[in-house]
Amino acid sequence: MLSKEDNELLTRVGPGTPMGQLLRHYWIPVVLSEELAGPDGAPMRVRLLGEDLILFRDTSGRVGLLEDHCSHRGASLFFGRNEADGLRCVYHGWKYDVAGACVDMPNEPEQWTGDEVGADAESEATRLGAAPRRFKDKIHHRAYPCREYGGMIWSYLGSRDVPPELPKFEWALLPEVQRSIAPEFIRECNWVQALEGDIDTSHLYFLHARLDPREERGPQNDNGVYHEDRHPRLHLVDTPYGVMYGAQRDEGPDQYYWRITQFLFPFHTLIPPGGRGAVPGHIWVPLDDYHTMRWSVAWDPTGPLSPSDRGRRAGEDGFLPATSDPLSRWRRVENKTNDYLIDREVQRTRTFTGIPTIPLQDQAVTESMGAISNRSAEHLGTTDTMIIQVRRKLIEAAKALRDEGTVPPCVDEPERYGVRSASIVLPRDVDWTEATRHQLEAFTGLPVASA
Ligand code: FES
Ligand SMILES: [Fe+2]
Repeated sequence: MLSKEDNELLTRVGPGTPMGQLLRHYWIPVVLSEELAGPDGAPMRVRLLGEDLILFRDTSGRVGLLEDHCSHRGASLFFGRNEADGLRCVYHGWKYDVAGACVDMPNEPEQWTGDEVGADAESEATRLGAAPRRFKDKIHHRAYPCREYGGMIWSYLGSRDVPPELPKFEWALLPEVQRSIAPEFIRECNWVQALEGDIDTSHLYFLHARLDPREERGPQNDNGVYHEDRHPRLHLVDTPYGVMYGAQRDEGPDQYYWRITQFLFPFHTLIPPGGRGAVPGHIWVPLDDYHTMRWSVAWDPTGPLSPSDRGRRAGEDGFLPATSDPLSRWRRVENKTNDYLIDREVQRTRTFTGIPTIPLQDQAVTESMGAISNRSAEHLGTTDTMIIQVRRKLIEAAKALRDEGTVPPCVDEPERYGVRSASIVLPRDVDWTEATRHQLEAFTGLPVASA
């Protein structure tokens, strides 16, 4: 459990909060590159870390992310005219480039002489004395740098003039045919409890279980998974980038089945491969305190993914119609308003939950914990040690940043992200960390360890 204070610190992401400050040190995925219209195309509303922002691609193809409200009098730049390398507010025509410079202010005189009437103009001209100055030169609209990388648009919401390097993920640096990225859906809950599902191996053979061990697993995972050993032993390893565990289960009398999972600062997970030869992972992006975007990545370091894996794109069907509201995108038809279409007959006869798919099963339980889970009322057991350790590291890093200015893990060490997950069956007397050392390294060209 956590104190109420630590739970607040862990979960809140808005500007000025300790965790919000920590998250603002990292590059954050915003949308797929293909989701944003081409040069001079329609701007998009996005929400990130509790901030409402406008994403656009200028005439030259550069991507900008601007504070929604115009610096003049606050009209939304969503309605803006995207033209000639800038976004122009439709209220009075002020225009901003991707860096937030006000490059045109057609409703003001080119220069002030000091004779103008008006509070801002008067004080500005007075302060400047005989040196007339252009009003627009003193406007700096909030703008966050963006990069296109690994098929996604990333942004840096931090305060450094020169952003850190992009994280060196193996999937982002591979040819496109070797990876898939799906903006799977928005979770209606806080990012930490959503992420905690990935580092919680013991739920696997309950929440996602099928009831009959002899039944084949279905193509959509809808039949669920099965394993005899349902009380795994977690072996934790502190890493420079986060925390890793090997979850040990009995596999016959002489072997163990190991599921090796990674948490990487601040919101990345790599979960064990499931037999397809691809490493799966998630990026849990806090849109605000109560909404989380789940990005799903998978990659095969040795060759192209199968067309069905590459084509796995959540947006193709099963989604509610989206509007320009960023929280309306990637909303499943099955959701908490219809109990995720739980089928009690299926629950009685075939699967543990009766909820159609594995991602939906996760969604149902994490959303059911409340918008922000009350961690002061929990009772954590031995299978929750990874969750305890990840929370501890996040809280410690946020406090170290707040109190001592300590730069959080990986921010200036982008190569730390070069790791993988694994699943493997080993003889009982073999040390799992030794046996998988190379298989957990990225950029080796080795195939994925997948049992
Ligand atoms: S509010 Fe945008 S130009 Fe006036
Ligand atoms: Fe799950």
